[in-house]
Amino acid sequence: MRIGSLTIPTPLFLSPLAGYTNLPFRLVVREVGGVGLCTTDLVNARSLIEKNPKAFKLIETNTADTPLAVQLFGSVPEEMRDAAQFLESQGVASVDINMGCPVKKVVKIGGGSAMMTELDKTSALVRGMVNAVKIPITAKMRLGWDDNNLTAPDLARALEDVGVAAIFVHGRTREQGFGGTVNLSGIRKVVEAVKSIPVIGNGDVITPQAAKMMFDQTGCAGVSIGRGAFYDPWIFKRTNHLLVNKEVSPEPSFTERVRVMCRHFNLMVEVFGEDLGCRMFRKVAPWYAKRFGPANLFSKQVVQVSTSAQFAEILQNYIHWRQQFLDEQGELLTRFAMPEMVASFMREPDSASTTRSQIPVPRGPVEVW
Ligand SMILES: Cc1cc2nc3c(=O)[nH]c(=O)nc-3n(C[C@H](O)[C@H](O)[C@H](O)COP(=O)(O)O)c2cc1C
Repeated sequence: MRIGSLTIPTPLFLSPLAGYTNLPFRLVVREVGGVGLCTTDLVNARSLIEKNPKAFKLIETNTADTPLAVQLFGSVPEEMRDAAQFLESQGVASVDINMGCPVKKVVKIGGGSAMMTELDKTSALVRGMVNAVKIPITAKMRLGWDDNNLTAPDLARALEDVGVAAIFVHGRTREQGFGGTVNLSGIRKVVEAVKSIPVIGNGDVITPQAAKMMFDQTGCAGVSIGRGAFYDPWIFKRTNHLLVNKEVSPEPSFTERVRVMCRHFNLMVEVFGEDLGCRMFRKVAPWYAKRFGPANLFSKQVVQVSTSAQFAEILQNYIHWRQQFLDEQGELLTRFAMPEMVASFMREPDSASTTRSQIPVPRGPVEVW
């Protein structure tokens, strides 16, 4: 598929997840396969042009990490323009603008979802960026501020007019936070509002079948996945398989999940050093464990990991402990098998469970997304 001048191999995207979509995770997802374009965590435009080391760490990349989009937030047109130019000079494939972040520190300076309420100002800022670089500029938004202000279709159209190459839309309002159901018809309205640029749907896609349904019911050109990729870095590969071969491939085995988790751990240590890498991995490992079957022991111990040797020991202990739940073939006994995951928009209307409890929102530097 194409995003402006950029051709990407599949219509599947890794959504930015502040605190998580760092270089190690992006490399893991790329190695597993199926993803078309990965995006960094959001980066403050001003910090980037001031060469703040933290901002530079967020855009750390390597040759295996392509094509890469960097997401910027900010509300000062000159800063956003200069940051986009700088990213272009660094070889970044595209720049995404955060227009959906409901976090106070972003909204209070006029960035994130505040941008959605001020169409003219936002269009001018975006035009300045589009005119300053050759790489595609994209925008990521929610459906609107609240149900009475579903501004995304108008905003998407206005942004297309000033040259944005694609729109990413999370099918919820700012007011909704992460509650309730992703609104596929809301995404469809955005698809219908633009003339020719791709609209990429986002929100609660946790299975290949959910991605397919989002494509089918919204007419979107691509699907972007955030938390679903955390449960399951295989989701892109399996979704691509479903789209191309029209069949659902099996879920990865426990051995494969462990292999990829270890690769992720090693990359974290490589990129962030043993101490910080281990500490950061404390919030990553429990996501892998959610699909391991019984994993209390592992989840409890891994949140205290401090060294690579300790990680290896925790894992070995766990693999040994887990044997009690296996049959003679080494598969989880049926009564311990993991229930299938179901996206909010695929659930029966009378289902009692809430989205939030089904797909937890990970804690991180940003508390409420
Ligand atoms: C911990 C966390 C961090 C996030 N960080 C960002 C971010 O930096 N920029 C952004 O545009 N969206 C961010 N989001 C929103 C996601 O990109 C995505 O739109 C949202 O989680 C819905 O998609 P999902 O259900 O596939 O996760 C974040 C969400 C979470 C849970």
